[in-house]
Amino acid sequence: MVKKIGILTSGGDCAGLNAVIRAVTLRAINQYGWKVYGLRDGTLGLMKDPIDVVELKTSDFDGNLMRMGGTFLGSNNKGNLFRTIEKAGKKTKVSEIIIDNLRKLELDVLIGIGGDGSLKILQTLTKRGNLNFIGIPKTIDNDVKHNELSIGYDTAVDVATNALDMLQPTAASHRRVMILEVMGRDAGHIALNAGIAGGADVILIPEIQYSIKEIANHIDKIRSEGRNHVLIIVAEAVKKENGKKATVKFIDGEVRLGGIGSYLGDEIYKLTNAETRVTVLGHVQRGAQPTHRDRLIASAFGVKAVDLIAKDKYSRVVVWQNRSVKDVSLDEVAGKSQILSKNDPLIEVAKGLGIYIGDVD
Ligand code: F6P
Repeated sequence: MVKKIGILTSGGDCAGLNAVIRAVTLRAINQYGWKVYGLRDGTLGLMKDPIDVVELKTSDFDGNLMRMGGTFLGSNNKGNLFRTIEKAGKKTKVSEIIIDNLRKLELDVLIGIGGDGSLKILQTLTKRGNLNFIGIPKTIDNDVKHNELSIGYDTAVDVATNALDMLQPTAASHRRVMILEVMGRDAGHIALNAGIAGGADVILIPEIQYSIKEIANHIDKIRSEGRNHVLIIVAEAVKKENGKKATVKFIDGEVRLGGIGSYLGDEIYKLTNAETRVTVLGHVQRGAQPTHRDRLIASAFGVKAVDLIAKDKYSRVVVWQNRSVKDVSLDEVAGKSQILSKNDPLIEVAKGLGIYIGDVD
């Protein structure tokens, strides 16, 4: 029987998404002779009439697509799918429209590429629509449970490391304290990993409390030892000393994390009299060309997802554990994020290098 696979990317984009769509398409068509349908713009394409869907062919991937950042299918990370809207004079739930449209496509299975939040939404929709589902974890935040590496994370760490590499010479030229604010939502993976790789003197992550006074002392010590500049990396969800997260509200009402870097810049200046400058790295962490590791993980996840379908194994999420791809129950992963453990071995490495990382003892 020729199976019909639907595939969509959901939530914030990241590097490696085109590589995973490619892997699914190649495996499904070349190995099993199935059909693959790409749903555009995440769940947004499923709200449209006609449904925004395109049949994917292996020839779609004979060029440079897998080397490119972003997702050629498009994605969406805003809007409540469980809200009610007015359609043809009737109040209708958005989720009902999506479920109806999923049924119209007569798919055998939907592959959803997303973070824990997207996987939860897609789990609910496919359960209600009685449709088989397989999840593939992607997120630069790397906070999907039971999964060591999500697609997009490695590239984001690389971009943040490169940013520290480029900040160091200008920091030294101007005797400055340079603060780099990175993404990661409530998890400090990007900040910790890039901070060590990029030679930061201070790493601040949401999982560990810090004190501005101690940061100031650390800066004074570095300067008294003869170095004229300091590099600080801070994760966007690190709280101010009053316990509140720094956020930005956009004109459409969407709220995102942002602004902790400039808060720290001002507070550090007050205590050290050091000139501070802040770089908010932002979406370059998501849009870069995927690293080899992200392409590898994406490829391995895509092949495994299709092989699960061949075994009629559904409601599973493919995950990276101990240098190979495994699969775990969707219930174990959907909506359950995983922040950095205080016992993460890299915290010891940071301490061992004399990096200030906050109150870990
Ligand atoms: O979850 C991925 C992520 O990039 C977070 O690290 C960040 O907080 C958020 O998405 C930014 O979202 P947006 O693209 O809507 O600004």
